[in-house]
Amino acid sequence: MSKIKIAVLISGGGSNLQAIIDGINEGYIPAEIDIVISNKEDVYGLKRAEKHNIDTKVMTKAIYGSIEKRNKALLELLKKRNIDLVVLAGYLAILPTEIIKEYENKIINIHPSLIPSFAGDGFYGRRVHESAFNRGVKISGATVHFVNEITDGGPIILQKTVDIDFDDDVETIAKKVLEIEHKILPLAVKLFAQGRLEVINNRVKIHEK
Ligand code: GAR
Repeated sequence: MSKIKIAVLISGGGSNLQAIIDGINEGYIPAEIDIVISNKEDVYGLKRAEKHNIDTKVMTKAIYGSIEKRNKALLELLKKRNIDLVVLAGYLAILPTEIIKEYENKIINIHPSLIPSFAGDGFYGRRVHESAFNRGVKISGATVHFVNEITDGGPIILQKTVDIDFDDDVETIAKKVLEIEHKILPLAVKLFAQGRLEVINNRVKIHEK
């Protein structure tokens, strides 16, 4: 069976991208990364891809003239390269309806909280951890989910918790959460690549091997 082809979309440092690259190289994930696409220039995630000889493409709004044109080009690129799975690994832009429809249950996102807490419009990156810190929650965590048209509202694939201690601050919460992101994102990609994820009524069934 040929390996599935993944496009990883990033906006920043790409530590989650690295976790997927490592998972593939260790033989844990039966897939290949066909391309890494960034909506920001000069981010470290692009360097990580280049180090592993993975094709990269920068698709900023400025390059294409508008977000609409960029998104149109993004959809064309994904189709042209016969992408089977799109992974949003710290991609901090919203995907348009056309892409979400074309890749229904074939786009997964990692979010740094236990959805539905600290999720939805405006909750991304550090802001999520600031909100968790300010609310004083005793646990936080990460969620991998399929992407639908509701921001952070798609079917949940995996979640994992971390304990938050009184002495934690925003940085240490972010670090704890990132550590588990690097576990559940590669696992979700592996389960997808193995064909073990099924969406039933907005819930995800994980099939045994
Ligand atoms: C990660 O914490 C990821 O969960 C978050 O951005 C960070 C990217 O880090 N994504 C979101 O907030 C999406 N709403 P990375 O570039 O090192 O993988």
